[in-house]
Amino acid sequence: MKLLEENQSTDLEKMVGLTRRSFIGAGTLAGAALFLGGDLLSRSALAIGVSEANSKLLGFDSIKASVDDSISLPPGYRSSVLISWGQPLHKDGPAFDPSGKGTAEAQELQFGDNNDGMSLFPMTGQPDRALLAINNEYTNYRYLFEHGKNPESAEEVRKALASEGVSVIEIKRSNGQWQFVQGSSYNRRIHGNSPITLSGPAAGHDWLKTSADASGRHVLGTFQNCANGKTPWGTYLTCEENFTDCFGSSDAQQKFDAGLKRYGVVAASKDINWHQHDPRFDVAKNPNEVNRHGWVVEIDPFDPKSTPVKRTALGRFKHENAALAQTKGGRAVVYMGDDERGEFIYKFISRDKINHDDPQANRTLLDHGTLYVAQFDDGDNNPDHPKGKGRWVELTHGKNGLDAAAGFNSQAEVLIHARLAASVVKATRMDRPEWIVVSPKDGQVYCTLTNNAKRGEDGQPVGGPNPRAKNQYGQILRWRENADNASAMAFDWDLFVVAGNPTVHAGTPQGGSSNVTPQNMFNSPDGLSFDAAGRLWIQTDGDSSNKGDFAGMGNNQMLCADPVSGEIRRFMVGPIGCEVTGISFTPDYKTMFVGIQHPGENGGSTFPEHLPNGKPRSSVMVITRDDGGVIGA
Ligand code: FEO
Ligand code: CA
Ligand code: CA
Repeated sequence: MKLLEENQSTDLEKMVGLTRRSFIGAGTLAGAALFLGGDLLSRSALAIGVSEANSKLLGFDSIKASVDDSISLPPGYRSSVLISWGQPLHKDGPAFDPSGKGTAEAQELQFGDNNDGMSLFPMTGQPDRALLAINNEYTNYRYLFEHGKNPESAEEVRKALASEGVSVIEIKRSNGQWQFVQGSSYNRRIHGNSPITLSGPAAGHDWLKTSADASGRHVLGTFQNCANGKTPWGTYLTCEENFTDCFGSSDAQQKFDAGLKRYGVVAASKDINWHQHDPRFDVAKNPNEVNRHGWVVEIDPFDPKSTPVKRTALGRFKHENAALAQTKGGRAVVYMGDDERGEFIYKFISRDKINHDDPQANRTLLDHGTLYVAQFDDGDNNPDHPKGKGRWVELTHGKNGLDAAAGFNSQAEVLIHARLAASVVKATRMDRPEWIVVSPKDGQVYCTLTNNAKRGEDGQPVGGPNPRAKNQYGQILRWRENADNASAMAFDWDLFVVAGNPTVHAGTPQGGSSNVTPQNMFNSPDGLSFDAAGRLWIQTDGDSSNKGDFAGMGNNQMLCADPVSGEIRRFMVGPIGCEVTGISFTPDYKTMFVGIQHPGENGGSTFPEHLPNGKPRSSVMVITRDDGGVIGA
């Protein structure tokens, strides 16, 4: 989801013509040295450089930026639509109504809006069948309703809630092409009014009890479902991100406590106004409902009747995604980012080991364990490729100052107010942590820090992994846990790439690190994925104005990087106004699924159908190669 950033345009260093990056992009580093002399020396002694500009891992050439209302791919690749917002999931289900007159009940039976993170679950012994669990993050009122505005009735709030959550769908391969199976008994919507259970240390706490649920254990719905995770035991994790946007107060003078303030609740709501039509979202009438959201939710995609579970042990914040790893001792690790300016990166380690022989034995694994938050040092302040050290600080009641004097009477309170607890232990305030992924090759962990217009003010010092004031382009952080063990309490970090625009700004930091060139430049990295060969896929959700500081970057896009050489190439460009988010592969890596979210969010797009006066529709795309080969190879 796009969090609007002020355009931090500057008059400095604009249009400098042939920049140093132009040279580097055009030839070898050695060739560039002839022009740049000593200045380059400080940039050439890098672990990451562009000296290996012919990565064997990347089997395609970087494509041009684009402002077209279509999908651009390298030669030899093609795309098609798997499923779009509003498509009926069931046999004889209500058809998509582009007028916006469709009912809430119809939307509850259709593919949700604004698809985001997704995971593919193969069917054992059936190579041509699989399930896709797909998040539906939020909705575009411009298109959801005929009037094109915020909800104006309880029925319209219900329709909005129905458009969010998760869609589970079956897909099958027929004549080599993967397709959506309408009518499959696996097809399911979990939306903003679906019954969900709370489990773990915070379940049943007074702060989670409401007039509708005296137990504090039974919630209606999941919404604002951003990115995802997939467990080794075959379940799907969906992450609740901007949940406080959905809440407001009928008491304009209401005084919010520290918890409500820190999570961003405001009386006017964030221009969504659900609270005006559904008292569940009115914090004056239901002060605890908001505490029941902002969690990671575990879903069994193979059991359409199963009740999803909110795992409170993983902490409550604006969850981006959940990246699974395993310690050398066999415990589960979940890396998680909190996507807000100045918020934190977390790690959960399960108490018990993963049982790889009996998937069902892991069904409460994420209810017991320890939550940590990351502290980064300032590192070496290398402008091109900073690196340093960091450590994990435990968020357990009674430790590290997390006691009654600090406002925490139990572990439940530490978890419900994880942000406040992380501040007590002085976690490092980050540039909006988005997706985290773990390399299948060496276990290093990568995290997109998408941008942060407030860096350098608001108590957020410039330095370390957040090296740029008014950071408008973003960077990708990575760390290696000590002894390459995900259980480690300390790590070494570096920045894999500092995004920038080398055609507008000369040099670091605004021109980007040395692996950013005029051919691959991008802003606001967000979605991430590794494939089995170790290619790092990078999706963007940034400024697609193609103007000023973003000139030449075009629409949002997907790039692919060689993590060893640092080389990055542009692989795909999305349609007008979209964010490219959500990625999954078939087990043979010959088909890639990619999410196109909110095309035309400000108008100007009719993607993907391109009907005259048609509406744009968020869609999951199927990417294949004409020769049937592995994507990216
Ligand atoms: Fe839903 Fe932080 O992106
Ligand atoms: Ca995102
Ligand atoms: Ca984003």
